[in-house]
Amino acid sequence: MANVCVIGAGYVGLVSGACLAELGHSVTCLEIDSKRLSSLQSAEVPFHEPGLSELVERHSRAERLRFTSEYSQAIPQAEYAFIAVNTPQGAEGRADTGFVFAAVRSVLEHATDMLVLVTKSTVPVGTGDEIAHLAEEQGRFPIAVVSNPEFLREGTAVHDFLHPDRVVVGASDTWAGAAVAELYAGLDAPVVTTTRRAAELAKYTANAFLAARISFMNEISSVCDAVGVDVEDVARIVGSDPRIGPAFLRAGLGWGGSCFPKDVQALAVTAATHGCRTPILEGVFRQNVRQRERAAEMLLASVGHLPDPTIGVLGLAFKPGTDDLREAPALAVAARLLEAGVRVRAHDPVAVPNAREIAPDIHYCADAYEAVTDCDAVLLATEWPEYLGLDWARARSLMRGAVILDGRNVLDARLLRTLGVTYLSFGRSETVNDCGNGHEPSDDPEAQPLATTQLPPAYPVPQPRGYRSEVSV
Ligand code: NAD
Ligand code: UGA
Repeated sequence: MANVCVIGAGYVGLVSGACLAELGHSVTCLEIDSKRLSSLQSAEVPFHEPGLSELVERHSRAERLRFTSEYSQAIPQAEYAFIAVNTPQGAEGRADTGFVFAAVRSVLEHATDMLVLVTKSTVPVGTGDEIAHLAEEQGRFPIAVVSNPEFLREGTAVHDFLHPDRVVVGASDTWAGAAVAELYAGLDAPVVTTTRRAAELAKYTANAFLAARISFMNEISSVCDAVGVDVEDVARIVGSDPRIGPAFLRAGLGWGGSCFPKDVQALAVTAATHGCRTPILEGVFRQNVRQRERAAEMLLASVGHLPDPTIGVLGLAFKPGTDDLREAPALAVAARLLEAGVRVRAHDPVAVPNAREIAPDIHYCADAYEAVTDCDAVLLATEWPEYLGLDWARARSLMRGAVILDGRNVLDARLLRTLGVTYLSFGRSETVNDCGNGHEPSDDPEAQPLATTQLPPAYPVPQPRGYRSEVSV
């Protein structure tokens, strides 16, 4: 069993630390946020992640899991230092690796023996090489740098960590790669060993590809609305092809969260920096922005003409099972509605305390029924199970109007229609509709692509180095 220090006790670091303790290792989590640290030192998890509290409590009690803010305490005892700090979006969409390098410098300063430094944070290709270079320059002891990207999802993070599809280990020192792989020996999962750079790039590619699948289906959903086809039928049919597979084909409000938005952009920036064009990535991103606009437009078209229009939002977190509001589509749509003068009432089973801090203009409600009361329209933004089981007849009777936008395509459209609801969705309309790009439906097969390409760029992409523009001579 190994001595492991995990630096950064957020969604990834804390789950990794608790699960490595579950695998029998002795783990110290190093966290510099004093509020987070003091909760953790009382074995309290400072965010919502199913199953994590039990692990933290059990392993803290068994003294296999400890928490500190002191590098001088944690690093000298560690054989492995996992970097799991945040890599937020920086200027022009690039990944901000400032927290990673700050952590690396602290590790190098406090190392008292050889060490394996493992990057679990999502970092641009080449970051491991830079860390290795820094370690060679500044380290007083041999430091091996290994990339071990994490693929867990929030809401199912503990399960995902303990039952991964694969463990990816990117290393230039064979012994260091083998040593990191050995930490996961208790898991029933294949280990994919590769170069550090391939591991780094594969992580971004996986997130971008998953986001692309969703954006693609969201684009198809507007075609479905235009031609009167149910997108769920289409998804079921194409998903049954084993070359495609059924996952991540759910059309709706689009993707949010702490990673897809920043990672799609950071990958485009990396590509541009190396002289590569990424029109597909740009389209994936723009389509997602468009999806939120479509939601706001549908709602405003339904209630904008009414006196004192009021809309209820069910679900605020970017997905069920978490209280994470980073890049939550619900908040983006709510902001647009508030801007247009609409009153917004909202409920979420766990994310309301976080939401109050960042969106104080929303009226927060104790339950879903209160949130829909006196509303002209309702948006289901996050498919929490409790919303699927709502008594919709009661909800409908509490509403002032009768419009429901099913932002996740999960409600029983037939039932709602029998209750007199005007059921709106992304691709599940019964009748032929506007394709959702703000243009009249057209028979011209070129109309849809043209409308999309006319959208302004959603984010700045730097000019690729060494790329020759088609228009210059
Ligand atoms: P987070 O913001 O929840 O947690 C990061 C933690 O690191 C914070 O608590 C912060 O205080 C701490 N920290 C920052 N600098 C530090 C330092 N120098 N020393 C000690 N602690 C420090 O972030 P997260 O969501 O856990 O993401 C971490 C990384 O993992 C990111 O690169 C992200 O892209 C990647 N990732 C995230 C997920 C996810 O589902 N959230 C999944 C896979 C990969
Ligand atoms: C995602 C990846 O799934 C993880 O593998 C990865 O480790 C992680 O990002 C990361 O790097 O942070 P996560 O963001 O937690 O995980 O959640 P997902 O389940 O992937 O959902 C992301 C977004 O896509 C959510 O807003 C969700 O509502 C949306 N989504 C997902 C759809 O709109 N349709 C789908 O079919 C699936």
